[in-house]
Amino acid sequence: MPILAPHAFEFFSHSPEQTRRVGIRLGALLQAGMAICLEGDLGSGKTTLVQGIAQGWGSADHVSSPTYVILNEYRHPTGSHLYHADAYRIASESGLDLELLDLESLIEKGILVVEWAEKLKRYLPKEHLWIQMSWVSLEQRHLILTPRGKNYEAVLKKLQQALFGAF
Ligand SMILES: Nc1ncnc2c1ncn2[C@@H]1O[C@H](COP(=O)(O)OP(=O)(O)O)[C@@H](O)[C@H]1O
Ligand SMILES: [Mg+2]
Repeated sequence: MPILAPHAFEFFSHSPEQTRRVGIRLGALLQAGMAICLEGDLGSGKTTLVQGIAQGWGSADHVSSPTYVILNEYRHPTGSHLYHADAYRIASESGLDLELLDLESLIEKGILVVEWAEKLKRYLPKEHLWIQMSWVSLEQRHLILTPRGKNYEAVLKKLQQALFGAF
């Protein structure tokens, strides 16, 4: 068992639907300027979680893995945006792709969710929510959520309350 950072928490998801529901709860807590970083192998459920996040945040747009286009953009009825990036294809921090993906300007405009965030580590804001996902068995995934910064600690606290009741 890994030792968890302060304010982090972990849990097991037992189905894609459960992962999506956690995403919905999390998405409802996000505000413009926030960054959610997803780490985990192919099939660990990152895109499934983002489908929930976009829905809970309030977008009706279709969410799919942006593996081949690097960045998808989802709209909220109020006009704000959620940017869904996927760094899988980005070759070892190559300049060109990263110029296309101006992360800071995206975060200024809305919410940023990045799959394969470990590939972009040094370009990400210092404060963020880091979610590590791993495959356990066919329908089970293990998630570790780690907040970096007070805003994200508050988000995680509310998320735990929403998921497990008051502590
Ligand atoms: N508990 C679970 N949570 C998330 N996905 C799951 C779970 N159990 C099975 N799956 C399946 O695993 C796959 C995850 O794919 P995806 O979300 O695209 O992962 P990634 O974006 O990490 O490659 C989907 O086919 C999904 O149905
Ligand atoms: Mg994906």
